[in-house]
Amino acid sequence: MERIKRKILITGGAGFIGSHVIKLFVNNYPDYDIYNLDKLTYAGNLENLKEIETKDNYSFIKGDIVDSDLMQNIFQEFHFDSVIHLAAESHVDRSIANPKEFIDTNILGTLNLLNAARNEWAEGGNYRFYHISTDEVYGSLGEDGIFLETTAYDPRSPYSASKASSDHLVRAYYHTYKLPVVVSNCSNNYGAFQFPEKLIPLAINNIQKKKDIPIYGKGENIRDWLFVEDHAKAIDVIFHHGVIGETYNVGGNNEWMNINLIKALCGIMDEKLKRDVGESAKLITFVEDRAGHDLRYAIDSSKLQNELGWSPSLQFQEGLEKTVDWYLANEDWLASVTSGDYQKYYDNQYGIT
Ligand code: NAD
Ligand code: TYD
Repeated sequence: MERIKRKILITGGAGFIGSHVIKLFVNNYPDYDIYNLDKLTYAGNLENLKEIETKDNYSFIKGDIVDSDLMQNIFQEFHFDSVIHLAAESHVDRSIANPKEFIDTNILGTLNLLNAARNEWAEGGNYRFYHISTDEVYGSLGEDGIFLETTAYDPRSPYSASKASSDHLVRAYYHTYKLPVVVSNCSNNYGAFQFPEKLIPLAINNIQKKKDIPIYGKGENIRDWLFVEDHAKAIDVIFHHGVIGETYNVGGNNEWMNINLIKALCGIMDEKLKRDVGESAKLITFVEDRAGHDLRYAIDSSKLQNELGWSPSLQFQEGLEKTVDWYLANEDWLASVTSGDYQKYYDNQYGIT
């Protein structure tokens, strides 16, 4: 069967998840034209895309989604028929320190993309605006319970509030203007190319350098972890087969208490670095808790599994080992992405002067 030629705008493609999505689409769909729009903030790095940067079906546009004129202009110039929207400010701790950037990029930036698509796309065409979001919009669970697509929104950090707002806008454009949208809300991702401000790469980096591993509060918070390549595959499936107007939860069915996760990671690091058993775990340091720290996230992805046939492919132990191997083999990448203001951020965040 002949594939329909597509012209896809992927935003935030130089970031962690976006770079995996770009690589998957550029490699698997040579007949699609893929445009990566990214502002290249501290979290965006073109080195993440070296593997595909010279491919004919890939183009990079440096730009800010907060610039509404630019969004209108690129839609008029390139006539995208689809958007996969990942660009965002993504780190909860930074949103606590500086909420404004999250409101600008995550809310206004999404609004600008929606308006540009709405202006360019005629009703009834074969278009698709796919918005990537987080399970954090659903709030915080106690010991029991699980997030369904129908769970009421209850965001509790500036980050999750900004993502919740953008989700609402996307759905509002579907209901009000019939913009053909689809939304997915995913749990915590881990894997190669994740900026070392998030828990897993931060811990790997610190263990390697024999620095303390900061654990917020008592380390009892729970997250549901998904290997980033499994998320990219889910995005592929939802982009191609998701029903317009629908929302899909994506998750690993893989809940870990932070302290247990870090102990497991320490075990892997001892082995890979040929250190004594227990050496890395000595670096665990309990620090002041995050303000408003959500206790537990758990996501039910059975709709995506049953209706679109996606399921996570990797066991956590295997995914963690692959991730550790990648970071240990890519010290240059780590040095490069942490060469800017990273140390300043780190010192502010963890109270080191
Ligand atoms: P990231 O921080 O690694 O990357 C974000 C990318 O967006 C960067 O390349 C950055 O340069 C770009 N960007 C930021 N502001 C921009 C702007 N104003 N204009 C253009 N580009 C801009 O984030 P990530 O972890 O890859 O997350 C990607 C998306 O997935 C986000 O929307 C996030 O909310 C969502 N998400 C992330 C996770 C996770 O665990 N990381 C889980 C669920 C959903
Ligand atoms: P993070 O990777 O920031 O993702 P999110 O806050 O979006 O879930 O954090 C994952 C968990 O790890 C969260 O409960 C906060 C905790 N955490 C620490 O204990 N120490 C750290 O240094 C970081 C960055 C996170």
